[in-house]
Amino acid sequence: MPMVRTSKVRWVVAEDLAGAGARLARHVAACARRSVRARGSFHLVLAGGETPRALHSALVHLPKGAVPWRRTWVYWGDDRLVGPKDPDSNYGMARSTLLSLVPIPPAQVRRIRGELRPTRAAVADYERTLGPLLLAANRRPAFDLVLLGMGPDGHTASLFPGSPLLRATRPGVSLVPVSPDPPHRARATLTLPALRSSREICFLIAGASKAAALRAIAARLPRGSARYPASLLLGGEGPPVRFYLDREAARRLPSDLKVEGRQR
Ligand code: 6PG
Repeated sequence: MPMVRTSKVRWVVAEDLAGAGARLARHVAACARRSVRARGSFHLVLAGGETPRALHSALVHLPKGAVPWRRTWVYWGDDRLVGPKDPDSNYGMARSTLLSLVPIPPAQVRRIRGELRPTRAAVADYERTLGPLLLAANRRPAFDLVLLGMGPDGHTASLFPGSPLLRATRPGVSLVPVSPDPPHRARATLTLPALRSSREICFLIAGASKAAALRAIAARLPRGSARYPASLLLGGEGPPVRFYLDREAARRLPSDLKVEGRQR
């Protein structure tokens, strides 16, 4: 398994999910301003599931101008292969909680077209959408910031423990025919090399159900493990990784781990 340089992993704990989301929102805004100053654009990958709602709410309530939305492009690390109005759609959740409330040009919202059939067509379509960014990934990171969540089993995006997709060696998009995690829909997911092709990765994780996997990941450092796919983003030559956690998710982290905001 790839070695993990623990100096590249930072742990931040807040009292609750709203607090962790607010901390991460300020960091996303700072990343966006830095990226636009340096390169004229900010390429952001949004996470799926329910946890990101707290981040989206905090981003919407930042002071006007904190995020240069007109110079921002958004993508998804994964989505369920459903239509944009389906309640299971990660795009649909982001649209209602964030994208419809900030001045991001619609053409800069690059969603996974989950309504395409057969499902492989949706995957191929997203590979074409990401094409130029992924093709250049061997020369420069495809993204400026990748946001991710994590399941209680350590999965992230739609990369699940023991999945053969974990062995993908090129930045791309893969099909998950049936998700082992509810909703049990077909999904499209960026591969680990695609998710790793970023200047930084930030996880937003909350709830006691995630505490055991986080402990296992932190305790295994400097090694990653296919048993906990999220840990595989901490390995090798990957980017700096930050974990933004609520107190419940952080409560089993090893006592000798440096954790910002942890009450002794
Ligand atoms: C998805 C996500 C998935 C999610 C985790 C955590 O499409 O569901 O990509 O990886 O981030 O399952 O989900 P919650 O935030 O709902 O706990």
